[in-house]
Amino acid sequence: MTTSPLKDLDQQVESLLATIGALTDAEALREAEPSITGKRSILSTLQKSLGSLEPEARRDAGAELQEARRIVEAALDSRRAELALVARSQALASDRIELGDVVVENVRWPVNAGHPSLVASTQRRLEDVFVAMGFRVSEGPEVESDWYNFEALNIPPAHPARGLWDTFYVELGDPETVVLRTHTSPTQVHLMESAVRSNALPIHAVMPGRCFRRDAPDARHLATFHQIEGLVVDRGITFADLAGVIETFTRAFFGADISSRLRPGFFPFTEPSAEFEITCTICHGEGCRTCSQTGWIELGGCGMLDPAVLDAVGIDAEEWSGFAFGFGIDRCAQMRHQIADMRALIENDVRFLRQFS
Ligand code: DAH
Repeated sequence: MTTSPLKDLDQQVESLLATIGALTDAEALREAEPSITGKRSILSTLQKSLGSLEPEARRDAGAELQEARRIVEAALDSRRAELALVARSQALASDRIELGDVVVENVRWPVNAGHPSLVASTQRRLEDVFVAMGFRVSEGPEVESDWYNFEALNIPPAHPARGLWDTFYVELGDPETVVLRTHTSPTQVHLMESAVRSNALPIHAVMPGRCFRRDAPDARHLATFHQIEGLVVDRGITFADLAGVIETFTRAFFGADISSRLRPGFFPFTEPSAEFEITCTICHGEGCRTCSQTGWIELGGCGMLDPAVLDAVGIDAEEWSGFAFGFGIDRCAQMRHQIADMRALIENDVRFLRQFS
C-alpha cells in the first residue's frame, strides 16, 4: 500500500493560512500569491502527484485537495480585503478632521474653510457694541403686512411718504397688503406690542435684519440690504439721550476719530426726526468724492417716537417716551472698510473676504 500524497495536507493548509495571515500589505500579498495558489505552489504540485493514484483513490484525493484549495483561496481573498481596509483607514487617519461628533474625511490640506460674509461680521460687531451699551438684540419677520411696515408707523395708505420706500409686494391676500419689509422699523412695532402684552416696558433693544427695496443696485445701494433698528421706550427720555447713544455708538464702532451729527429730517414715525451722519471715513472730514466734498456720510435716520406710533400699539404717551433709529449695516461695512462698491459685499468672493479679519 502506497502512502497517500495528501497525508500532510492539513498541516500544509495550516502553514499556508499562517503565511497568509502574516502578510502585512497588499503589495506583499500580490508577490506571495503565486507561491500559495500558483502553478509552482504546493497545492499544484500535489494536484499533479494525484495522477499516479488508482481512479477511485484519485477521485477522493481530488475532492480533498479541491476543498483545501477553496479554503486557502478564501483566506487570501479575505486577507486582501482586510489589508485594503487597513490601507484606507491609514490614509484617512492623516486626512481626517474630527469636530465633536462630525468627522470630515478625505480632507485635502490646506483646508479652504471659507470666510464669514462681511455683512455677517459687521452685524455681529454692531450687536456687540449695542449689547455693551445695555441694549438687547431682537429680530422680526422679513415678510410683513402693510400695517406693520407702514400704517402702524404713521404712514397711512396713499400717504406721500410711502414713495420713500420702493416696495416689493407679495401676492398674498388682498392686493398690496403683504410686503417684503422695506426697513427694520416694523420690528419696533412687534416689540412694542409684545412688551404691552407681557407688561415688559421699558424697552432698550436693537433689531438687525434683511430688508428689500425695488432699487437698482449700484455702488451705494443693494436691492436686498441690511439695517439695524434701535428702540428705547422708557420714562423721561429726551433728544439728548438719542444724540448721546448715536455719538457713543459711532466712536465705539468706527473709532475715536470719527464723530456723528444729526441734521433735521423727516420720518412719519418720529417727531422730531433727524438724519444721522458720521465723519467720512475715506477723507476723515476733509471732503472727497465719496462724501461729495461735505466731509460727512449719511448712515440712517432717527428721532423721538411720534405719540401716534405709541398710540397704535397701546402705549400711554403721557407716561412713556422714547427714541428710535435705523441705519444700514451694509453701509457700516462699506464705511468701516472703505469699500468703493457695495456690490462687492454680495459677490462672496473669498479673495475679497480674506482681506478682512
Ligand atoms: N426706517 C428708516 C429708513 O429705512 C430709517 C429710520 C428713520 C428708522 C427714523 C428709525 C427712525 O427708527 O426713527 O429709511
